[in-house]
Amino acid sequence: MIDTIELAKKTLIQNRKSGYTLPTNNNLYPAQWNWDSAFISLGYSYFNLEYAIKELETLLLGQWEDGMIPHILFHDNDETYFPNHKTWECGNKIPSSGITQPPIVATIVKKILDQNKLDQGQMKRMEVIVKKLKKYLEWFYNFRDKNKIGLVSIIHPWESGLDNSPIWDGPLDKVKIEENLKYERRDLNVSKSENRPLKKDYDAYITLLNQFKKIKYNPSEIVNNSMFNVIDIGFNSILIRATKDLVEVAKKFNLDFSDLKNRISMSEESLIKFYKDEEQSFFSYDFINHDLIKIDAISNYFILFANLENKDMNNKIINKLKKYNSQKEYFFTTVNPKDQTFEETRYWRGPVWINSNWIIYQGLINKDRNFSTLIKNKTLDLLENKKFYEYYNFKNGDCLGAKNFSWSAALYLDFKFN
Ligand code: GLC
Repeated sequence: MIDTIELAKKTLIQNRKSGYTLPTNNNLYPAQWNWDSAFISLGYSYFNLEYAIKELETLLLGQWEDGMIPHILFHDNDETYFPNHKTWECGNKIPSSGITQPPIVATIVKKILDQNKLDQGQMKRMEVIVKKLKKYLEWFYNFRDKNKIGLVSIIHPWESGLDNSPIWDGPLDKVKIEENLKYERRDLNVSKSENRPLKKDYDAYITLLNQFKKIKYNPSEIVNNSMFNVIDIGFNSILIRATKDLVEVAKKFNLDFSDLKNRISMSEESLIKFYKDEEQSFFSYDFINHDLIKIDAISNYFILFANLENKDMNNKIINKLKKYNSQKEYFFTTVNPKDQTFEETRYWRGPVWINSNWIIYQGLINKDRNFSTLIKNKTLDLLENKKFYEYYNFKNGDCLGAKNFSWSAALYLDFKFN
């Protein structure tokens, strides 16, 4: 029997193209994705630092002039995916999508630097990466922080990385679907429709895309005009953590990132206002409906990853999280099984995803050692028994979505070696 560590390495290597790695080796995602690449890079760092650095460099090749790193880079002319480069019609140097994804990459870079001894050449390359990441984080604060409160909006559900989470249902209802909208989905050729987002979601996704294309992806216009505008707790937690981590990393290179550092306290103060005592929970805010989105989803608990200074609040969140899933089952479901929007096998509406577990785990390590160890062991058990799938059923661990899924393999290595 092939050992799971070797299988994880093999999965990454087999999904690797020139300089970057596909999320999976079937045709579901034939390109480079932003946060997938970050997780993948961390995986490589356990056995091939060169590949780890290269993965990040390739991702940054696609960075836009204004600083944004797109959520997808289309390195070749593959058209089996929809929407591909022909639909987006944008990109700087590399054809890309015109939106972004959670900037987890900054935290991953810190982790790789903390855990490895890089030679001089590698450090030089990392310094270039770090400077580009500063530009990326500044892009968020410059263009997405509409009210200058230190919190940013996402303008498309795909930016969250949790494409069809029920958190987006209310906001998406306000998207007026384009008349005569025509497109052909390709995901259903390679994945079961009962596991994938619905047609009504795709209609809205593509309507938004077309709207952004019309305004030539101008970042100021997008944030002012998008029919979808949400202050997502999960996203902002990752951004705050990214900012903190990049400021720390800068010290290793004697770089002065104090302007970035100055943003942290305002972001934290603003974020805390989204905590509701009654539910003991954080909720995302819909800018268009002017409403809190009261859905008990795992990304609300990503707040732990932000490492807020407020110990009291962190403890309340941890206590609530302990009740979120019963400890007998696999966890964490993407949505609380008791929430009426929960769907056991549909993508981000219920199944267990390894990167969610990882984010929660990273947030808990320095706050509740026992609980974090439990999560780690449960996740390792799941992966050792079922291997590397895209997502899993929380009741029985049944494998769902794509197989040979890169970030499940990469994060297995991180869980295993830490
Ligand atoms: C889906 C996921 C997203 C991921 C991408 C590639 O769109 O929702 O988080 O980055 O697939 O794996």
